[in-house]
Amino acid sequence: MSEPVAVTPNAVSYAVRDGIAVLTIENPPVNALGQAVRAGIIAGLDQADADASVQAAVIIGGGRTFIAGADIKEFGKPPTQPYLPDVLKRIEAMTKPVVAALHGTALGGGFEVALTCHWRVGIDSGQVGLPEVKLGLLPGSGGTQRLPRVVGPKVALDMIVSGNPIPNKKAAELGAIDEIVNGDLLDGALAFAKKVVAEKRPLRLVRDMNDKVSNVDPALFADYRKSIEKKAKGFLGPWRCIDAVEIATKLPIDDGLLKEREFFFECMASPQRAAQIHAFFSEREATKIPGLSEDVKPKPIKSAAVLGAGTMGGGIAMNFANAGIPVKLLDVSQEALSKGLGTIEKNYATSVARGSMKQEAMDRAMKLISATQHFEDIGDADIVVEAVFEEMGVKKDVFGKLDKVMKPGAVLATNTSTLDIDEIATSTKRPQDVIGTHFFSPANVMKLLENVRGAKSSPETIATVMALGKQLKKVSVLAGNCDGFIGNRMLHGYLREANFLLEEGCSPEQIDRALEEFGLAMGPFRMGDLAGLDVGWRIRKGKAHLRPKDERYSRVADRLCELGRFGQKTGAGFYTYEGRDARPDPVVKDIILEESKAQGIERREISDEEIVQRCMYPLVNEGAKILEEGIAIRSSDIDIVYLFGYGFPVYRGGPMFWAEQIGLDKVLATIRGFHKTHGKFWEPAKLLVQRAEAGKGWKG
Ligand code: 3HC
Repeated sequence: MSEPVAVTPNAVSYAVRDGIAVLTIENPPVNALGQAVRAGIIAGLDQADADASVQAAVIIGGGRTFIAGADIKEFGKPPTQPYLPDVLKRIEAMTKPVVAALHGTALGGGFEVALTCHWRVGIDSGQVGLPEVKLGLLPGSGGTQRLPRVVGPKVALDMIVSGNPIPNKKAAELGAIDEIVNGDLLDGALAFAKKVVAEKRPLRLVRDMNDKVSNVDPALFADYRKSIEKKAKGFLGPWRCIDAVEIATKLPIDDGLLKEREFFFECMASPQRAAQIHAFFSEREATKIPGLSEDVKPKPIKSAAVLGAGTMGGGIAMNFANAGIPVKLLDVSQEALSKGLGTIEKNYATSVARGSMKQEAMDRAMKLISATQHFEDIGDADIVVEAVFEEMGVKKDVFGKLDKVMKPGAVLATNTSTLDIDEIATSTKRPQDVIGTHFFSPANVMKLLENVRGAKSSPETIATVMALGKQLKKVSVLAGNCDGFIGNRMLHGYLREANFLLEEGCSPEQIDRALEEFGLAMGPFRMGDLAGLDVGWRIRKGKAHLRPKDERYSRVADRLCELGRFGQKTGAGFYTYEGRDARPDPVVKDIILEESKAQGIERREISDEEIVQRCMYPLVNEGAKILEEGIAIRSSDIDIVYLFGYGFPVYRGGPMFWAEQIGLDKVLATIRGFHKTHGKFWEPAKLLVQRAEAGKGWKG
């Protein structure tokens, strides 16, 4: 028997049914393996072993799920006994069969508990997986050693390195679940346990199954490392996952478990773990809107309309169709509609060809999308999202029309990325129903939904678009109304500094490389070339009259556009292109040198560190202003916008978290230095000064 441990009553309840001990985990909402649960399982097993009338034990989750993993809130704090490996040792030491009964999501430490039990049963609708990699970790309690012994190293690598769960049914096919229970899970698990007892089956432990991890070709791991090179660049977790699974094929299990634990603590100590867990909790926190009473219920969205069949409108329509919501796509010409529908069909067909979507799902989605040229046809939709040309006059005209045709209470949403929501709302008689829903391009792929509340948007309208995000499987953040909202407003300084750096001594490729090394998916110039340089050019020309004459302004991008170099689509921009391959171009170099000269700037060597600070600190400084003004509810919402909308590396947690990790005082000191050298754009935000001088983070 193990040492007695402190047990919080009810975290694990104990009952005996027909000679089978039932340990029910009661730690809502997801039965995380906190200290009380770990202690409770050990105590329950001790009791079951000691009770002569008990023949076997079943571990089952109360409520909606089996154990969904270790308690993430405990990470980063001093660990408390008993540790999870102690729980697993206790299971393996049982003299009676232990059966795990799986429903909901058996994840991480939860699946590791199940894999340590002698047998596993589960219902069809459940899922199992080892998602630790998404938190900057690897499975730390035997997952990397036991799963390959059950499903083989290749499948184990797929599951552990991606972190994606698989359905119980699939787990059963792979041998990770012994029986799928139809009907009541507990009844099924009890019946299974009785069968095992009646048949006097010898206790079976995964640790003893060595067939699948013997004689494994080492090329599997070399190939796997190669296959994730691009995707996992900069991350620690995925590489350690592979190392640990490889060890399972080379060392006896106890040595493998020790090595896995060593890797686990290495990852746990890494700033990446802190950043990725910050991202996990921030994503959930972003859905909570202070001041929005629990009584405010979102309106049900059962039908939708999208205005504009361009790239954005089409992508938005796909979101609704993917969520099973019928959607009408409206455009002024039949030609635009046919083209839009054609693109949608092509996008779906690509997903089917890639295997990420089934043909039936594509057919179902296509059936949900219809097209019309008439506003009268969309009047009964629960929500309409406008994605027409980004110009105030056009938007207002469209909202005037929507006001006339939409049923009372319909949500009137605009997909503007910069324009004033309140001004758009003035063209309706129902500003309470008007709100911004800023999707990111490509809208069918990008996870962020930046909802923008106008001064008069009603609580119900806000609640509806936040709930819509969940329905569409997006990550929603609520922003206030200002030029560029959260995301694009911050981007402004980032692009400005990247362009200034060109004039001061950098090449586009040097800047792109430095920022890609930092972790961005694409540097600003390759990104600009991909998105098309003409859009920004048009906006800059439109706003030229507002720019003070003495304000520093980089003309490099304008000069490229004047030459018809709009980026990839014209074969040339900041680079020249062969297909998608970007090559440095002497023409661009000459223009940059001419502009340095024209500005009287003496070019100098610029370090990668300065490039990162010059481009990234404007995000932090502007983020602080956004926070100060209440445009973002909390600093972590800003992080979520950048993680899910702008490809900021998740292992850095978002710009605001990253700045906190560096230390706001250090960031401020650098910004003050830039302010001295480069002038007014670098005026430090008041909130940054306040927090840094008080020695605090954003929240403190
Ligand atoms: N620890 C602590 N809290 C957790 C948690 C966990 N493992 N998992 C979820 N929660 C919390 C969430 O923060 C949320 O709290 P809130 O209501 O206060 O915002 C609440 O539980 C409900 O979570 P969701 O809103 O995410 O609910 P869903 O139903 O959408 O999703 C889920 C449920 C699929 C379980 C999802 O929460 C999830 O993926 N959780 C993380 C699972 C995970 O990563 N497990 C591995 C942990 S690491 C580990 O086990 C290490 C081991 O190898 C040693």
